[in-house]
Amino acid sequence: MTVQEGLSVGVVRETGPGERRVALVPAVVGRLRAAGLRVLVETDAGAAAWFSDEAYAQQGAVVLPTAALYAEADVLVCVGRLDEAGIGRLRPGQALVGMLAPLADPGHARLLAERGVTAVSLDGLPRTLSRAQPMDALSSQASVAGYKAVVLAASLYGRYFPMMVTAAGTERPAAMLVLGAGVAGLQAVGTARRLGAVVTAYDVRPEARAEAESVGATFLTLDALDAVGGGAGAGGYARALTAEETEAQQRELAEHVARQDIVISTAQVPGRRPPLLVTEEAVKGMRAGSVVVDLAASALGGNVAGSLPGRTVVTDGGVTVVGADNLPATMPGAASTAYARNVTALLLHMVADGALVVDLSEEIQAGVVVTHGGAVVHPGTAALLKEAQS
Ligand SMILES: NC(=O)c1ccc[n+]([C@@H]2O[C@H](COP(=O)([O-])OP(=O)(O)OC[C@H]3O[C@@H](n4cnc5c(N)ncnc54)[C@H](O)[C@@H]3O)[C@@H](O)[C@H]2O)c1
Repeated sequence: MTVQEGLSVGVVRETGPGERRVALVPAVVGRLRAAGLRVLVETDAGAAAWFSDEAYAQQGAVVLPTAALYAEADVLVCVGRLDEAGIGRLRPGQALVGMLAPLADPGHARLLAERGVTAVSLDGLPRTLSRAQPMDALSSQASVAGYKAVVLAASLYGRYFPMMVTAAGTERPAAMLVLGAGVAGLQAVGTARRLGAVVTAYDVRPEARAEAESVGATFLTLDALDAVGGGAGAGGYARALTAEETEAQQRELAEHVARQDIVISTAQVPGRRPPLLVTEEAVKGMRAGSVVVDLAASALGGNVAGSLPGRTVVTDGGVTVVGADNLPATMPGAASTAYARNVTALLLHMVADGALVVDLSEEIQAGVVVTHGGAVVHPGTAALLKEAQS
């Protein structure tokens, strides 16, 4: 197959375990083509998200087998990182755009630099910049996760979320506590409210109160952090709490957790392991039949004692604890569509006169460009690599 002139963007087929998303969907192909880009798609790249090769082709994309795609594309776009085989196919001068998590694994960034690849990672985006919002993949995917966490909890809970008044009597609505009222937490609040649950939200950032209340939650204030004015940190994120603050927070939260039917936890602190908010004792204090979904579950631990990503356990006390694992991948249609818009906005931001123009003096690019010209150029990632060497 002959591929025409012009900057080409190649959509790879994801290979991560359980990953069903795809970086570009047919609906954005027209926008990219209108900007003079050619869109190439690896065979079956969208199949797991129900986007067929034909649907891409109908929008003017060219579907290619794996080797041809990597050989032809100037810019490869992905959701998660490429596997070893994919990285082995990259060539110097090629660009790779995805969620590459360089701060979590700077060694991976070094590998991409060694291969001469320009790596661009959407998770480095300066999120408070209003012109960067259409590119904010962390937010778009967190929003999907927050929604899905509630749907998951509702399906595992053996009772109704809304108050039910029937001839057989009245059922009270479910009581839900959302821990961490960031993007995922606020989406969880809104979703649970739409299902009729009574929702309380908690966050250490004082400004989260107004946001949580605006989507229908009652905001929980704990004495633990009130005296020090809350736990806001830099850049709109939370700070890591001291050991004493954490302990006081856990103790006070346990009383509230015991009254809930559902707990959804989403708390994160950048660059740190997620804070432990719900202790084993607190889970023990919950009624049988209650459900906990820990969106922060990670190999290092999550917000809930004992939660592990991808594992659902029922405690001896009858509490179902779900360690969430890549929930956006379980809603691949919605998650891919939002992500594709984020990637498209970023590509169009970086492309000028039919070429990808790297300009590290520009605020958005300074955040997202990880490697260029054979070097790790992202300051945070470079600093971590230097630290590891010394
Ligand atoms: N366009 C924008 O301006 C924009 C876009 C996206 C996000 N944001 C802001 O960025 C911030 C981070 O959002 P995020 O969803 O990525 O956050 P995140 O995933 O880093 O954390 C989720 C939430 O957990 C909270 N948290 C952390 N430690 C906690 C603890 N010990 N107890 C309770 N809660 C705790 C955080 O305050 C945060 O609200 C928020 O202020 C959000 O509004 C702004």
